[in-house]
Amino acid sequence: MIELSQDFAHESVIGVGHHRVCFIHPHDSRLCIKVVYNHCDTADQELARELKYYAHLQRTLKDWRGLAKFHGKVETNMGVGYVYDRILDFDMSSSKTLEQCFTLNNIQRTAEEMQIVLTKLKQYLSENKVVTMSIKPYNILCQRVSESEVFPVICDNIGSATLIPLEMYSSWFYRQKLERIWNRFEKDPLVQAMYEVLRKKNLSKSK
Ligand SMILES: Nc1ncnc2c1ncn2[C@@H]1O[C@H](COP(=O)(O)OP(=O)(O)OP(=O)(O)O)[C@@H](O)[C@H]1O
Ligand SMILES: [Mg+2]
Repeated sequence: MIELSQDFAHESVIGVGHHRVCFIHPHDSRLCIKVVYNHCDTADQELARELKYYAHLQRTLKDWRGLAKFHGKVETNMGVGYVYDRILDFDMSSSKTLEQCFTLNNIQRTAEEMQIVLTKLKQYLSENKVVTMSIKPYNILCQRVSESEVFPVICDNIGSATLIPLEMYSSWFYRQKLERIWNRFEKDPLVQAMYEVLRKKNLSKSK
């Protein structure tokens, strides 16, 4: 049985979501363990959907750069633990989420960098047909793979809630779905702020 801290402010805690807490794996710091702390129907459904989709990806996905691989379940003092690759920067520090990297306070200076990350994210999703329920800035990790390069990694909310997920088997349905999800993501205040900064900068360039 793996012992995890019950104190979410403990240094072994990487992040806390609405339902799950994510710990550094005590036996291997390149892995993380997620445990459900807020049990409800939504949490159980999301987890079941994610695991089902991981099983599909394990058979079909070639390029795993934009996703944390799933490594199975373990027993912990807090119940079932789900083991994934821990997303780390090139200097072995924990990668930050999009929300931590880019904020309304720094967007004036970081808009171009954020746009590069979002372009890579959309390209990765469409090239690999990775299905997500929604894209949220706190579910995308910005993995600094070198001093100058960041690659986006999706850490949550993958899979489909529909009975027959046509988007997993048809490119046409996939493109429709991605456009819908992406349009919703673009309404996020942070993404809107990024576009506003870029628009003003382009206007001032063309003057
Ligand atoms: N594979 C990973 N590597 C590193 N950090 C991670 C990883 N997965 C999750 N995290 C961190 O832990 C946090 C919580 O994990 P996760 O998003 O899976 O929980 P959740 O409760 O399902 O979230 P939500 O509130 O979006 O439903 C993330 O926001 C992120 O900061
Ligand atoms: Mg999350």
